Amino acid sequence: MNDAQIIDGKAIAADLTDKLAVRTKVFVAKTGNAPCLAVVLVGDDPASAVYVRNKGKTAEKVGFKSIQKILPADTPEDKLIKIINDFNNDDGINGILVQLPLPDHIDEGKIIDLIAPEKDVDGFHPINVGRLGAGDFVNALIPCTPAGSVILAKSALGDNLSGMNAVIIGRSNIVGKPVAQLLLKENCTVTIAHSRTKDLPDVVRSADIVVAAVGRPEMIKGDWIKSGATVIDVGINRVDAPEKGDGKTKLVGDVNFGEASQVAGAITPVPGGVGPMTIALLMENTFTAACRQHGLSIA
Ligand code: GUN
Repeated sequence: MNDAQIIDGKAIAADLTDKLAVRTKVFVAKTGNAPCLAVVLVGDDPASAVYVRNKGKTAEKVGFKSIQKILPADTPEDKLIKIINDFNNDDGINGILVQLPLPDHIDEGKIIDLIAPEKDVDGFHPINVGRLGAGDFVNALIPCTPAGSVILAKSALGDNLSGMNAVIIGRSNIVGKPVAQLLLKENCTVTIAHSRTKDLPDVVRSADIVVAAVGRPEMIKGDWIKSGATVIDVGINRVDAPEKGDGKTKLVGDVNFGEASQVAGAITPVPGGVGPMTIALLMENTFTAACRQHGLSIA
């Protein structure tokens, strides 16, 4: 029985934000301003509210200015559009993030398209999607969860991922597709698997690197994992946990951690794996955006 290395995303994220706090002090000394991140939340989804609060707290911890706009669920679309336009035109704001999902009456694509690409710290705007696809890493802002996932894979495997087989399970715009682009840039041989993939367990068994991003609790079983593989579990699923008491819940990933950690070489836990990295990379993107807007090199 093999016991996988547990990849400590929380520690790696804390190291990134500690270093970023130092770089932020230099930025403030040079510009007289702190980088500023504006986050917009529409509605009262409790999970989204926690994410948004954590983004604000981390921003302040690294020395950024944080603006949080919390709007009721019935906010009209044109009111949200006006807020984004105001943020786009405000030189004091370097990064803009609209927490998803948005209520049904608001067109998510229309809102994402409206965010100025140079302030789009999620990397969701079509301009940034195109830049990533074209390999223009100088001007792109890269989606945070995919960028964090690659850093975690490298923490286990070293910086050279060249020639490795990477299997991504999930083809979302937010994770699956961009993480495929990033792993391709690292010279991996990339397969994007999804709900229609034939013989999914066999496909996953060919992977040196597995990125699980399907949003289905514990779907990926231990016997799908090649011995020694690196497993990056992007899933965050809240499930019932009767063993903890009546009405209790817990978070699990898309991978059956108990099984997979017996086989894998390295694996991220949930929570404490990819989640903290997403927030750390959001701070990195905000810093990158602020440096570009001030014409500074990203030291
Ligand atoms: N909702 C869940 N994940 C994300 C994310 O990475 N960015 C935004 N804006 N909303 C999300």
